[in-house]
Amino acid sequence: MSGQDPAVDDAPLLTADDVTRVYTLGRDNEVHALRGVSFTVDRGEHVAIVGSSGSGKSTLLNLLGALDRPTSGHVRYHGRDVRDMDDAELARLRNGSIGFVFQSFQLLPRLTALDNVILPLVYRSSSPRERRERATAALEQVGLADRITHRPGELSGGQQQRVAIARALVTEPALLLADEPTGNLDTRTGEEIMTLLEELHRDRGTALVVITHEAEVAARAARRIELRDGRIVTEVAA
Ligand SMILES: Nc1ncnc2c1ncn2[C@@H]1O[C@H](COP(=O)(O)OP(=O)(O)O)[C@@H](O)[C@H]1O
Ligand SMILES: [Mg+2]
Repeated sequence: MSGQDPAVDDAPLLTADDVTRVYTLGRDNEVHALRGVSFTVDRGEHVAIVGSSGSGKSTLLNLLGALDRPTSGHVRYHGRDVRDMDDAELARLRNGSIGFVFQSFQLLPRLTALDNVILPLVYRSSSPRERRERATAALEQVGLADRITHRPGELSGGQQQRVAIARALVTEPALLLADEPTGNLDTRTGEEIMTLLEELHRDRGTALVVITHEAEVAARAARRIELRDGRIVTEVAA
């Protein structure tokens, strides 16, 4: 990972330390979405986060991905507190060290598959040609070599999620965060997407943290964290 402090290089990849998140909706209306969550993710680990709807899973993932800040507590990358990062460092983290995959794909509809995957590379110093080559290779890896000029609306749900996975992995992040990546897909397509994520995790050593409703998906992770009402209620190693 670029820009990390070598002094803390042996720290876990990711640490959540007594993290809370309170959403304030009005003067007397607070939602305690997370009530003190602590755990670590090591390099190359595969962790599933499970729990019923509203238990705080997406809130937690957004905090882990530095898309949001905890109300109290700490999220650390390689021992470095996200709170202490300036905007440039945060942008580097979100745009290079972490890949995101969401239930709703979140592709830009006007851009081709190729241009969606090139997007995270745009702020890099590499040449346009290099970016094109890397994005093409990423799309080949997810099995979409023959769809690179298609726009999202011209692709099936499973294909759109493959584009999103290529986009998440094109920067070769150390960590992939996935929020119910199979939630909008039929069972069989969802199964294919999970297999793809697990292969990429295995082959590249990318740590994978996946939120899921599906027991089968969770069962394949090396570790499961169950949330209930904003707290971890069980942590199970497979
Ligand atoms: N932006 C927000 N503003 C206010 N409340 C929110 C917001 N996001 C989530 N919540 C609330 O926080 C709790 C946890 O939500 P969430 O993390 O989305 O749960 P999950 O992903 O497990 O379904 C829920 O009660 C939800 O209504
Ligand atoms: Mg959610």
